[in-house]
Amino acid sequence: MILIVGATGILGGMIAHHLIGQGQNVRVLLRHNSPAAELAKHYLATNPQSLIEAGAQPVYGDLKDRPSLETACVGIETLITTANAALRGGEDNFLTVDLQGTTQLVEAARTAGVRHFIYVSAAGAVPGHPHPLYDAKGQIEAILRASGMDFTILSPGVFMEVWMGTVIGIPLRAGQPVTLVGEGARKVAFVSMVDVRALQNS
Ligand SMILES: NC(=O)c1ccc[n+]([C@@H]2O[C@H](COP(=O)([O-])OP(=O)(O)OC[C@H]3O[C@@H](n4cnc5c(N)ncnc54)[C@H](OP(=O)(O)O)[C@@H]3O)[C@@H](O)[C@H]2O)c1
Repeated sequence: MILIVGATGILGGMIAHHLIGQGQNVRVLLRHNSPAAELAKHYLATNPQSLIEAGAQPVYGDLKDRPSLETACVGIETLITTANAALRGGEDNFLTVDLQGTTQLVEAARTAGVRHFIYVSAAGAVPGHPHPLYDAKGQIEAILRASGMDFTILSPGVFMEVWMGTVIGIPLRAGQPVTLVGEGARKVAFVSMVDVRALQNS
């Protein structure tokens, strides 16, 4: 059984539907207060109902609720997490979700005997990074390396499906010039979420 945490997100939903389509047994961590159904109308999330209808086994919990993570991890061989707080808010932020919540998830997985933990980090993440998301991801990578579990860390660059449209598409559709910050001398390695999803096969 594979547990996906973050399945109601954009990438997490792609991974979940992909694995279910392969015939894998997939459990998804869902939240009763998730904004995903509403965000999915704007292609900014994955509708939880679509995951259940596709055949995923739902388990309800929250990264801020340790006991719920212990329940979610029972009987899990492989855990994939894409969860993050970037498109959420309120009580869900980089400290409570990306650092503390994901730390709790690693601990719950190890306690439950999860064999393989797959973590979607980000290129450039390092402990002490001035951006709290990249700092949190860097710290989680270190915690995972010391966990004793088999692990895979994916460190993608920026997602082209997200950022091309935001940086270029929105001003173009408004008939406005595109503004690129800086001198245009820095290389940015965009990656497609489809290619990140495909790495779950390897
Ligand atoms: N966007 C980029 O360019 C980029 C680049 C490199 C790496 N990444 C990383 O790629 C990963 C996937 O990105 P994405 O855009 O697919 O993410 P996303 O759509 O923002 O997904 C957010 C997911 O996190 C879950 N979540 C948030 N707070 C939670 C909590 N307290 N408890 C449980 N789940 C919680 C959400 O669940 P609810 O629906 O219940 O809120 C949702 O499933 C992320 O780790 C991101 O940092 C992104």
